[in-house]
Amino acid sequence: MKHLISIDDMSDIDSFLLSVKDIKTVPKLHQFDLQNKILTNLFYEPSTRTSSSFHSAMTRLGGKVLSINEITYSSVSKGENLQDTVRTMGYYSDIIVLRTQNAGDAGLAAEVSSVPIINAGDGNGEHPTQTLLDLYTIYENLGRSGNFRITFIGDIENSRTVHSLAKVLEKNCRVEYLDTYNFDTLPLSDVYYLTRVQRERGSTGSYQLTENNIRKMPGDSIVMHPFPRNEEIPSWFDSDPRAKYFEQIKNGLYVRMALLRSYRDFP
Ligand code: CP
Repeated sequence: MKHLISIDDMSDIDSFLLSVKDIKTVPKLHQFDLQNKILTNLFYEPSTRTSSSFHSAMTRLGGKVLSINEITYSSVSKGENLQDTVRTMGYYSDIIVLRTQNAGDAGLAAEVSSVPIINAGDGNGEHPTQTLLDLYTIYENLGRSGNFRITFIGDIENSRTVHSLAKVLEKNCRVEYLDTYNFDTLPLSDVYYLTRVQRERGSTGSYQLTENNIRKMPGDSIVMHPFPRNEEIPSWFDSDPRAKYFEQIKNGLYVRMALLRSYRDFP
């Protein structure tokens, strides 16, 4: 059984990025690839991008989706535990996409699941499919997925997107972290990756890129954010060619199509 709990579970990321490029070129070629397959979207925390892009990806591959996005209306509200819910949905579907509130939950689910589990974010743990779409966006813009300079800015401690991406990039990039919200200067970087302050995990404070910060970013650098954003990036920056966060969101669809397609022979 091939679960995707941590980005470490992806053995050949470069080949995977090439498969995303193929799918993005002609997505319709794959419209029947997952016919007769069913995906469960099991979300214990809110989501717009991850849940919807998995739903869209599965549908565009010809598959169907069972959505438990509003757990209040499921038996979770009657006290059912994660393991029992996961076992149950394993009888009804071929793969489970799971978002939970606590780091480690996806691994616990995998221990009892009869179908592959894809971790769609476990508390402040990891968010491996976000990492894949981040890497794909970097690859499209820089022409490579390693050997560059990246600066992470924001709530580093509680950001699962940072934790997963940093695991990959620390192997072959110059990685810097800026977790103070009072910065005048930014390190010289190819990629600036901002994250929101995770108030739902107890983090406090706020920050926003200033015009001065932005003026000092190299003209060929790129600015990324996993979204949702709060005040970190002013909306006037959205039309700047260095702003790549909407490309990330769009690439999320193709990355998840490529990922689900890689499971087509399961179970
Ligand atoms: N980036 C991300 O995980 O967004 P959602 O919370 O909207 O899924």
